[in-house]
Amino acid sequence: MTALDLSSPVAVVGTGTMGQGIAQVALVAGHPVRLYDAAPGRARAAADAIVARLDRLVEKERLTGADRDAARDRLRPAESLGDLAECALVVEAVLERLDVKQELFRELEGIVGEDCLLATNTSSLSVTAIGGALANPGRFVGLHFFNPAPLLPLVEVVSGFATDVTSATRAYETARAWGKTPVACADTPGFIVNRIARPFYAEAFAVYEAQGADPATIDAVLRECGGFRMGAFELTDLIGQDVNESVTHSVWESFFQDVRFTPSLAQRRLVESGRLGRKTGHGWYDYADGAGGGRPEPHTAEPGRTPAHVVAEGDLGPASELLALIREAGIQVREEDEDHGTRLVLPSGGQLALADGQTSVEFRDVVYFDLALDYRRATRIALSASQDTSPQTLAEATGLFQALGKDVSVIGDVPGMIVARTVARIVDLAHDAVAKGVATEEDIDTAMRLGVNYPLGPFEWSRRLGRNWAYALLDDLHLRDPSGRYAPSLALYRHAYASDKRQGGSS
Ligand SMILES: NC(=O)c1ccc[n+]([C@@H]2O[C@H](COP(=O)([O-])OP(=O)(O)OC[C@H]3O[C@@H](n4cnc5c(N)ncnc54)[C@H](O)[C@@H]3O)[C@@H](O)[C@H]2O)c1
Repeated sequence: MTALDLSSPVAVVGTGTMGQGIAQVALVAGHPVRLYDAAPGRARAAADAIVARLDRLVEKERLTGADRDAARDRLRPAESLGDLAECALVVEAVLERLDVKQELFRELEGIVGEDCLLATNTSSLSVTAIGGALANPGRFVGLHFFNPAPLLPLVEVVSGFATDVTSATRAYETARAWGKTPVACADTPGFIVNRIARPFYAEAFAVYEAQGADPATIDAVLRECGGFRMGAFELTDLIGQDVNESVTHSVWESFFQDVRFTPSLAQRRLVESGRLGRKTGHGWYDYADGAGGGRPEPHTAEPGRTPAHVVAEGDLGPASELLALIREAGIQVREEDEDHGTRLVLPSGGQLALADGQTSVEFRDVVYFDLALDYRRATRIALSASQDTSPQTLAEATGLFQALGKDVSVIGDVPGMIVARTVARIVDLAHDAVAKGVATEEDIDTAMRLGVNYPLGPFEWSRRLGRNWAYALLDDLHLRDPSGRYAPSLALYRHAYASDKRQGGSS
């Protein structure tokens, strides 16, 4: 099954933000494009807006004048749905309401030819439920573009329960022919990206709700230590708290209120207070004085005490790279084999351990440090200590990371810290999604890198961290919060267990 022929007309119904973007993509690829919108005059205005965008591409020399003229000639607003009769593909981008979409497709089915592919750009409704309104749901598919559609390459091609393989394949190949990077996924709440990205927001909000740290500090740690492009607070201010919360809410509801997707009370309060983010001038941060002008500085510790030496007990796992960095900083490292320990012992006698789902208060004198995407390149590290941690140990832990050139943020005694718990949950949801047939590992990695700009796909990250790492951390978190929110999935358990068996150990 191949992509649609470029001579085949494509219709876009609903010509708001997404419809315009999708129409531009199909148009620039070479199709004749028809635009229809229920609001009078809107399709015409959308056509003008698209041509104005093409003009800007010509100014930037990313499109030739001749190509712009040809595209303009291929673009036509439609007066009624009846004008779409000749189209080979209709992409719907109307209001996000099941009844509105079902009604539209029922009407379209009586207008277009039998071979016409019907697609929805819904981001949160069930593709199966929309298609359920059709006499022939086999030709109905989800084509989930990301905003802005002309710029973002990812398209989730969603197969509903009744979608024919041939229709899904044709939609997939067509998206690819349009220069996009399609990924195939089953029709599940949130598809790939909006499902697997939930913990990125939820865990940041949870650390904040637990009084672990303020938004600016959590954001700085996610960026400068975790390698994420933006922190969860600044990103949701950009997306809109109402929009982000409604996606979370819809995924949670659609999973029958699965506790792993529980929305955040702190975000609810923000939405209730009308602090929706940049668009209202206030969100987690204050934008009254311009973009991000009122953003507070992250917590950054005063200079600590550089330890002269450390003892490394056991294998530091994902943080092993630290030993080389510590040596390069002129600090002596003595390595000792330890069956149980995976810690650095400081001159104070206190210990420094990678966040593992336990809390500092459970041990005599421990400081936890957070997971970094890359310890060499990280510019900030979070540390957590309890009231039982000695001031000397905290000062030496702080001084150690400062000697490696890092800013240090000391946060509350939060198990799993910030980056570690976030990455572990993303890895878990990704494994769970593959086990449930949502998508392949490769497509999930692609979707998370392109859809939400993660520095690594969950499976690439999982491989780097070691097969047991996420499972062990979540298992520990689950023990401390037995609500089920952190319960590792059976898929992650299997993954960890299989690796142990291969290595000749036991689980
Ligand atoms: N905005 C995003 O970031 C984004 C991203 C991915 C998917 N989506 C999905 O795309 C769809 C459209 O979102 P949007 O942000 O472009 O909305 P929008 O409000 O900008 O545009 C919707 C358009 O649909 C028109 N419309 C409403 N009912 C109609 C009908 N029955 N027939 C024809 N036209 C109708 C409206 O007049 C409006 O022009 C939604 O399903 C949304 O979930 C949005």
